Amino acid sequence: MQEHAYYAAYRPQTAAYILHMNPYFAYPPVVTSQGTSPVVVFGATGYAGQVLVRLLDRHPALHPVPVSAHTTTDLSPQDQAALQGCAAVALALPADASRAWTEAIAGRTNAPVIDLSDAHRTRPNVPYGIFELWPDDLRGARLVANPGCYPTASLLALVPLLRNGAIAPEPVAIVGKSGASGAGKGVAEHLHFCELADNVYPYKVGAHRHVPEIERHLGTSVCFVTELLPIVRGLLVTAFVRPRGRPEDLLSVLCDAYAEHPYVHVLDAPDARLGLRHVVGCHDARIAVGPVARSGLVPVFAAIDNLMRGAASQALVSLNRVLGLAPHLGLAAPEPPSTGLPGMKGAWT
Ligand SMILES: NC(=O)c1ccc[n+]([C@@H]2O[C@H](COP(=O)([O-])OP(=O)(O)OC[C@H]3O[C@@H](n4cnc5c(N)ncnc54)[C@H](OP(=O)(O)O)[C@@H]3O)[C@@H](O)[C@H]2O)c1
Repeated sequence: MQEHAYYAAYRPQTAAYILHMNPYFAYPPVVTSQGTSPVVVFGATGYAGQVLVRLLDRHPALHPVPVSAHTTTDLSPQDQAALQGCAAVALALPADASRAWTEAIAGRTNAPVIDLSDAHRTRPNVPYGIFELWPDDLRGARLVANPGCYPTASLLALVPLLRNGAIAPEPVAIVGKSGASGAGKGVAEHLHFCELADNVYPYKVGAHRHVPEIERHLGTSVCFVTELLPIVRGLLVTAFVRPRGRPEDLLSVLCDAYAEHPYVHVLDAPDARLGLRHVVGCHDARIAVGPVARSGLVPVFAAIDNLMRGAASQALVSLNRVLGLAPHLGLAAPEPPSTGLPGMKGAWT
C-alpha cells in the first residue's frame, strides 16, 4: 500500500469511519447505541495489563473491567458478577496464575478467554493469535493463546518465507534484543538501573522460554539468543536464513504476504526506519531483508513494541476476532513507513 492509500483509508480516525473503510469490513459492525461490552482484565496492574486496559478504554465497542483477585478463591462478589456478565476475559498474568485462572473461569462464565501468558501457546487445538498468519474465524473459540513478543516478531519475519519455500526448513539463527519492560514490573538484580543503563548483555542464553513456542509455530528448530537493551519498550529480532532460490525473492515473498495487511510494513531496505521508536506505542510491525552475505546467509529483521504488538494490541485483535468484530477495531491507524529517524521527517531519503 502506498502512503496516500494509508491516509485515504485511515486518516479520519473515528470508529465509524474505520469500521466502514477497514479492509475487513465484511465483519458485522456491532458498535451500537446500546453501549460497549465489558471485558474482564486480570493483571490490570501489570505492564501488559495496563496497556490493554488503556486500549479497551478507547475501544468503540468494548470497555475494561479490571479484576484484582490473586487466588482463584478470593474473587469479590462484585468481580464474580463482572465475570458472569462479561463478553470476554483477558488474562495478563504470570503463566502459572493463568493456568489456574483458565480452569477457574471455565466454571464461572462461558465468555471466551484471551491468555497473554505462555501457558497455552504450544497446546494443540488452542488458536494462536497472529491474525496476519493464522486468519481463521475465531468466533466460538473458548480460549485463544496470545503469542509472545519475540515469537510474534520472529514468526512475522519467517513464516511467509517458509510457507513459500523461499528458505529451507532447516535450523534458523535468531538474535533478539528487547527493552526491559519485556520482563514485567517485577524487581530483579539484572534489571536494576545500575546494571542496565549504558549497557547491553545477553540473558537466558540456551534457556529462553520462547524457544519451544517459536519452534512449534515455525515448524523448524532455532538457535535463539536474546540481549537486553537499556530502553523501556520495543524489540528487534534478526534472523539469519539461507535462501533456496534467488536472495532477492525473500523481499518479494514478504511484500506479497503482507500486501493486504496494513499493520505489517515491509521496508525496501534495512535502515533507520527499523528503529524501535517507529514501532513503540503502536500495533505496527516493521520487517526488512538485508543483502546476501558471502556466507550465503541473509539477515531478516523485524521490529515491534513488546507491549503492543507483542502483547496488548495483539490481544485486542484476538478479542475483536472472538467477538466477531473487525479485527483492527479500536487500534490507531497504521503509520506509513515513509520517514527515516523519528522526529526527522523528510531528512531520510
Ligand atoms: N511484558 C511484556 O512485554 C509481555 C509481552 C508478551 C507477553 N507477556 C506476558 O503477559 C503476562 C503479564 O506480563 P507483564 O509483563 O504485564 O507482568 P507484570 O508487569 O509482572 O504484571 C503481572 C500482573 O499479574 C498480577 N498477578 C501476579 N500474580 C498473580 C496471581 N497469582 N493471580 C492474579 N494476578 C497475579 C500482578 O498483580 P499485582 O500488581 O497485584 O502483583 C500484575 O497485575 C505474562 O504472562 C507475560 O509473560 C508480557
